[in-house]
Amino acid sequence: MAKNNKDEHKKEIDKISGVETTGHEWDGIKELNTPAPRWWLVLWLLTVIFSVGYWFLYPTWPTLTDHTKGSLNWSQYKQLKEQQADIMARKSKYLDEFKTASFEDIKADSELYAFAIAGGKAVFKDYCAACHGTGAAGVAGKYPNLNDDDWIWGGSLDDIYTTIKYGIRSEHDDTRFSDMPAFGRDELLDSSEIEKVVQYVMSMSGNAEASPEGAQIFAENCSSCHGENGKGMYELGAPNLSDAIWLYGGDKDSITETVTNSRRGVMPAWVDRLSDDTIRQLTLYIHSLGGGQ
Ligand code: HEC
Ligand code: HEC
Repeated sequence: MAKNNKDEHKKEIDKISGVETTGHEWDGIKELNTPAPRWWLVLWLLTVIFSVGYWFLYPTWPTLTDHTKGSLNWSQYKQLKEQQADIMARKSKYLDEFKTASFEDIKADSELYAFAIAGGKAVFKDYCAACHGTGAAGVAGKYPNLNDDDWIWGGSLDDIYTTIKYGIRSEHDDTRFSDMPAFGRDELLDSSEIEKVVQYVMSMSGNAEASPEGAQIFAENCSSCHGENGKGMYELGAPNLSDAIWLYGGDKDSITETVTNSRRGVMPAWVDRLSDDTIRQLTLYIHSLGGGQ
């Protein structure tokens, strides 16, 4: 390197390091002529050669409207499409089986079942978690917990399927529907009758003393939906009142509010928004959460 140095006549050896200087000097400070090590130079040349090869094979340089394509004609988009095609192929293997299999068949085939649960879980996050929560634990006073075995409309696979497909008090013609009367607001019961029947409801889960009048009012006004002993009826979407699980609250004020104004929770129908396969996957997923019957 030093031989090429134009300032060769000024060439001198630095006394301290014993290294030749370049002859450049700034305020008495001189620059040592330390060439890059050979291995570094070789590596650098290799990267230059590599990059030239890369330019030919792969998309590299921007042009005004596009970019050079490279002789391999590779693109991220093409790679993505190939990967997606691969995923779809693997998925369709299961989906084809899934479409024709009954719930029982699916449950008997552990791979197909795992496929359904994974699919259902993913869709649940997108469409259901907004109301029921990501873990399906619901929101007290609003949206039911889907993890427990306390069902309003039934916890068999067919029940759950129907609920998801048509919704509850939804706008679909086949929706699950049931209206608890607003006993207070519509003056079907006066406030002292409401107080007595609320007392009676609380007594069913062991939280109050019941009066005979309360039992009487319940038998006449409530048992047609909630059953004689308050165990509820799936066909009417009337919850069990004799257990400790409450959607709208089991304290005196909450029950009084329910009986006075009724609640009428709405769950949308999904039949027009999700495919039948997806609804079936969701059904299996919900059923698997612990409370399936
Ligand atoms: C807009 C809020 C909302 C969304 C979104 C929603 N739900 Fe619901 N869901 C409800 C309400 C409210 C109820 C209770 C209705 C009632 O009073 O009977 C319910 C009830 C249910 C039940 C019946 C529970 C039982 O005890 O019988 C199931 C099963 C269910 N939802 C599943 C789903 C699935 C699956 C999705 C997603 C595809 C979903 N829900 C999306 C509000 C919602
Ligand atoms: C026509 C059927 C029907 C009748 C009659 C009826 N209910 Fe209900 N009840 C329901 C339904 C359906 C629900 C579910 C909540 C909702 O969406 O309105 C419900 C919910 C409730 C709840 C809330 C349960 C919870 O988990 O929070 C209470 C409490 C209740 N009913 C008490 C009564 C009492 C007391 C009477 C009689 C005075 C009565 N119901 C009469 C259908 C009925």
